[in-house]
Amino acid sequence: QTGTLVDRHGRTATDLRVSLTDRCNLRCQYCMPAEGLDWMPTEQTLTDDEVVRLVTIAVEHLGVTDVRFTGGEPLLRRGLAGIVSATKALSPTPTVSLTSNGLGLKHTARALADAGLDRVNISLDTVRPETFERITRRDRHADVVAGLEAAQEAGIAPVKVNAVLLRGVNDDQAPELLDWCLARGYRLRFIEQMPLDAQHGWDRDSMVTADEIFERLAPYVTLTPADRERGSAPAEEFLVDGGPATVGIIASVTRPFCGDCDRVRLTADGQVRNCLFAREESDLRAALRGGASDDEIADRWRAAMWTKLPGHGIDDVGFLQPSRPMSAIGG
Ligand code: GTP
Ligand code: 5AD
Ligand code: SF4
Repeated sequence: QTGTLVDRHGRTATDLRVSLTDRCNLRCQYCMPAEGLDWMPTEQTLTDDEVVRLVTIAVEHLGVTDVRFTGGEPLLRRGLAGIVSATKALSPTPTVSLTSNGLGLKHTARALADAGLDRVNISLDTVRPETFERITRRDRHADVVAGLEAAQEAGIAPVKVNAVLLRGVNDDQAPELLDWCLARGYRLRFIEQMPLDAQHGWDRDSMVTADEIFERLAPYVTLTPADRERGSAPAEEFLVDGGPATVGIIASVTRPFCGDCDRVRLTADGQVRNCLFAREESDLRAALRGGASDDEIADRWRAAMWTKLPGHGIDDVGFLQPSRPMSAIGG
């Protein structure tokens, strides 16, 4: 090991989130416009071997212990199972997880479990097919449900569900979504919407806050803080009716957790982002393709961490959204 990914505020990144593509087969309103975006050209996207080389450097030289693959939609990457198994073959073995919309997981869950995938987080904002189509602009609710079932059947555990509530669209559906997840053993987390949509349509006043989510659930279930050590986890966990089942709330905006952040991100085109909201990136693809050694790449990566901001700054006057939308960062 040549070092750790420490920043000037004393935080150490041990959790690497790798975006494998900026493409997606859904068009969630809170993420991208109906027509999609200008996708990244293939030649700019890291190859499977390049991804594995950078992940290897992170794990074997820089102290990364947890690797999460994201997108866009990571299941659109044909080499995903191979990337997962190569990552699980590293030493020390990292945990490997996936954040996905679940489309097509029905067909790949078994292979991914066999490749060593430990955990999966699936986005599902509603149990109603018509609301699903309104939010994602695609009639694919049943495919996501099938993907969730397949992940559980393949033995991937826990299976988590991520839900974003949109005012006037699904904000009154939190209790039924919770019921549905509890009945199936999925761990539900509600997420406050962040200003990361490509259309720049986020509006603080219409965002559904953590307090409001709590109030929406309170008439139906008793929620008590789970006193499990939270560490750097974005989700605050609550026991449902005394437990053991839990529900999480990810209050990025109203209760930021930046001070405990242990994350670093790699985009599909090989740029290190030290924060979801970083204003600058460091180009590891250029280093890689320019013939840099593992040590040189590790040095560049460590240097990229130093400037990590203390917080996301959403509340600051003059806050600017990052130049990349959520789908090109990986959430
Ligand atoms: P777990 O390891 O299962 O807790 O994963 P996770 O919740 O960190 O990951 P996931 O990809 O499921 O993301 C859930 C939500 O948390 C998404 O909206 C992410 O954008 C958000 N999130 C993840 N990491 C960060 C972060 O470092 N900062 C902020 N503000 N939000 C984050
Ligand atoms: N704010 C918060 N969460 C978002 N997601 C996508 N866009 C946003 C946003 N603007 C969620 C997805 C997925 C996770 C990676 O992030 O629904 O579950
Ligand atoms: Fe695709 Fe995720 Fe964006 Fe929805 S939120 S359009 S599933 S990348």
